[in-house]
Amino acid sequence: MRHEGKPIGFVLNGRPVASASPPIARLTRVLRDELGLTGTKVGCDAGDCGACTVLLDGEPVCGCLVACGQADGRNVTTIEGLTEASETAQSLQRAFLRHGAAQCGMCTPGMIVAGTALLERNASPSEAEVADAIGGVLCRCTGYRKIIDAVLDHAGSPACPAPDAGAAVGARIERLDGVRKVEGRDPFGADACPADALVLRVIRSPHHRASFAFEDLEAYAAANGIAAVLIARDVPGRNRYGVIPPFADQPAFAEREARFRGEAVAAIVGDAKTVEALDLAAFPVTWTALPAHTTLDSALAPGADLVHPERAGNVLVRGRVVRGDVEEGLAAADAIVEGEFETGFVEHAPIEPEAGWARRVGDRVEIAACTQSPYMDRDDVALILGIEPEQVRVIPTAVGGGFGTKLDLSVQPFLALAAWTLGAPVRMTYSRPESMMTTTKRHPGRMQVRAAARKDGRIVALDFAGDFNTGAYSSWGPTVANRVPVHASGPYLVPNYRALTRAVHTHLVPAGAFRGFGVPQASVAVEQLYDELADGIGMDRLEFRILNALTGDQPTVTGQILGEGVGIRACLEALRPHWERARREAAAWNDLAAVNDQLATSPPPRGEGSGGGGPEDARCRSSSGSPPTPDRASRDSALPTRGRASHLRRGVGVAGMWYGCGNTSMSNPSTMRIGIRPDGRIALHQGAVDIGQGSNTIIPQIAADALGVSLDAFDIVSADTDLTPDCGKTSASRQTFITGKATELAGRALRAEILRLANAGEEARIVPGAGEICVQDGDHTRRIPMAELETDEHGYVLSAERSFDPPTTPLDADGQGEPYGLYGFGAHLAEIEVDTRLGTVKVLKITAAHDVGRAINPTLVEGQIEGGVAQGLGLALMEEFHPGRGENLHDYLIPSAGDVPPVESILVEEASPAGPFGAKGIGEQALIPTAPAILNAIHDATGARIRRVPATPDRVLAAIRAAMSSPSRGGPSRAEGANRGGGRDEDAPAVAPSPALPPPGSASPSPPSPRGGGMVSP
Ligand code: FES
Ligand code: FES
Repeated sequence: MRHEGKPIGFVLNGRPVASASPPIARLTRVLRDELGLTGTKVGCDAGDCGACTVLLDGEPVCGCLVACGQADGRNVTTIEGLTEASETAQSLQRAFLRHGAAQCGMCTPGMIVAGTALLERNASPSEAEVADAIGGVLCRCTGYRKIIDAVLDHAGSPACPAPDAGAAVGARIERLDGVRKVEGRDPFGADACPADALVLRVIRSPHHRASFAFEDLEAYAAANGIAAVLIARDVPGRNRYGVIPPFADQPAFAEREARFRGEAVAAIVGDAKTVEALDLAAFPVTWTALPAHTTLDSALAPGADLVHPERAGNVLVRGRVVRGDVEEGLAAADAIVEGEFETGFVEHAPIEPEAGWARRVGDRVEIAACTQSPYMDRDDVALILGIEPEQVRVIPTAVGGGFGTKLDLSVQPFLALAAWTLGAPVRMTYSRPESMMTTTKRHPGRMQVRAAARKDGRIVALDFAGDFNTGAYSSWGPTVANRVPVHASGPYLVPNYRALTRAVHTHLVPAGAFRGFGVPQASVAVEQLYDELADGIGMDRLEFRILNALTGDQPTVTGQILGEGVGIRACLEALRPHWERARREAAAWNDLAAVNDQLATSPPPRGEGSGGGGPEDARCRSSSGSPPTPDRASRDSALPTRGRASHLRRGVGVAGMWYGCGNTSMSNPSTMRIGIRPDGRIALHQGAVDIGQGSNTIIPQIAADALGVSLDAFDIVSADTDLTPDCGKTSASRQTFITGKATELAGRALRAEILRLANAGEEARIVPGAGEICVQDGDHTRRIPMAELETDEHGYVLSAERSFDPPTTPLDADGQGEPYGLYGFGAHLAEIEVDTRLGTVKVLKITAAHDVGRAINPTLVEGQIEGGVAQGLGLALMEEFHPGRGENLHDYLIPSAGDVPPVESILVEEASPAGPFGAKGIGEQALIPTAPAILNAIHDATGARIRRVPATPDRVLAAIRAAMSSPSRGGPSRAEGANRGGGRDEDAPAVAPSPALPPPGSASPSPPSPRGGGMVSP
């Protein structure tokens, strides 16, 4: 124990240390700020995320929950100590690299620490033990499966050797930036600030809508020893920014009125000790709450107050795609289904909260922060400061997950303004509540849809209308409103089509880009209705999709003929054996569960308890009478027996997807530069920000094969607006496709130049050496001394810079045209189990088939799929953000290791001529079909149709009861208009429970599984 008056002392990574911090200081603070060990990450400061996991006397604990006084006299081990001295940790780190278990790397140190603690006491854990051990550490990127695999395989064989020159594309190369991630050395936004940086905190609106007035700010600053208080009048340039310039509407600081809870009105800057000690509630501002639109209905009501005076009806923008005649199509149909569907706000929840720092350098300002879009940040900050873009340098830090939310500015305008004004370095890290309160969310959607088919199974019409709540500012609202109508058909031939959308302003947190830009919401609606259509015409749900799957010679709903690279049919067909197997197994399970239902209300059969006479025996006897075959045995082990819960029902669901890579009908080029220095080293200007998806590895793989050299010939120049050409934003699944294509073009151009200088043929081999390039062409070898060549303005003796802008055309008034250069396709199959008493849903397995054109790195592609599945599962079952409530990772649940099922990825490679080596994007695609596949599986299991996601237990129970009370009780809709009227299932009146359901009140719906495991109290 600590004795009063003495510094706190503990053994840190095997060495004694003393801390001058007060005993109540968080251990994470002491480790990071005082002792400089930033490998221990902070994602929440509240014990919810586990990123801060360290060992205290060998046991994993959340460092943010340990007061440093509690560490007095004890042993503390961090990722740095394990990396240095633990063979178990080192082998686990190698396994993480082999398995691709680190993506962004923000959770990785915590995972390694928790995994090492497990392996130190149990070198051969079961999968369940691994999931339990890491259960307290959240990962938003990987979907956990590769992490679990890595822990199980911690002592596995070494990595494959590096591929030969020309064989990098398609190889399962370990992440080139992986070592620093698994060792906790990748510097995130809060990790590398100058020690003397001032600290900035923001004053934010506590109301959804409020006017405000400041009192004497100068007196407040003087009284509190604050360097500066900044408000709107201090913005020297344009107090307005936005990711789509014509719609830019968000102020750095609100003026007169705050339009959403959490909007910034002022910033306080000063030394760390002073600013961190301030009680922000005492800031001299008075608020007057004003009536706010917090729902679509309120904002769209006739005569409603306008959020922005210039946007009539609170409509930011409308989207429209019309093809054929939807009314004629409906009239000619044999089956029509319809419904209204709703989705809520979804929080991105990257484990790294927004963070960074800035400094003024002469007449320039430099910003180092987490971002997905450095050049867009640069341009907007320049406008805010009233300076030229070239006066702003943006250096992206490592990004601890983004998923779209770090496309918009967060800390950057505050940091830049403070550094510019004060001439001193300034840092800022959002708290988790601040991050959740203020950063963009997935758009809530409310969609009315009608779908129609002929009895031969052909879709003949789809009529879609959707409103998307874009919140107080435009952010990516125009993109969502325009992308959804292009995609709402799904990847099918739909000859008669009408999709109309609106992005609608409310006084809520801005909604922006989140993996899919509205397409996942539309898929929740449309893919469920396609199931109902298949049921309505008596067709298998998978075969219905295969029949209607778009082919390369058929027009999309925008009239585009895609030609090569249309892999939806191949994806769906790849699922067929899984579909048939899963359906058989689920049916067998449910048959037996039904038997158990009957038996539950009957006297026990004779012989029960003596090993014979139960329903399983009866089933066995009714078969051949011989012992079960191995296949049967394994299948039967998955079946319920008497005594197991008969209220569990299993179901299987399928859904397809497509996604256009890149901006919709807009130019979005990337530029790549590759140069050879006089010493013979090759520099690759990799400006595609890696937010965990892998561009730091994939782009070099493409460059290596395009140039025809080995991967280790490159020195990577990381994203930096001063050093790397504009590779655009990391968004819309565009980096592999667009930056990858620019890389391929630059690599091939440089190769051609080298071969020309060497007078060598196309097949010649290029071998970079010290101060020379060697070209081997058959029996001839030519050496090109670099010293003989002049250097260009970048210091290169040879270089190539190429841009690629995907071929698109503008859409006409009916949305007809060619919005994307290529589409990715995919389909997911979900196997689930529903507890019909509690309404809980357990996902047992996802089988995911994706057409990625060419898998540049299959391990990284699988990682994207597994991570997308986890987020899709969250969308389907557990995630909904309510502005003003639950702004933390305790109340807002994201999937933990125990929630994510095994994922079987099937990679389909229908090469696109537009993509580099045929490749397409995968980032958004992976999430889109998961939720509708799960929702279709819930219906398959229970007959309940979920029209409002997430399918929380209360909603599932209500939907089951509604289904049981409907005329087609327990079964799917089979007739035209089965759901006419579009009522929401969960709003259906309560009905008397069926024998299979509990009486009201007998069972409380329980939330998704709480996280836990692996942590002990200090
Ligand atoms: S930072 Fe400690 S649990 Fe999140
Ligand atoms: S790799 Fe786990 S949070 Fe990003």
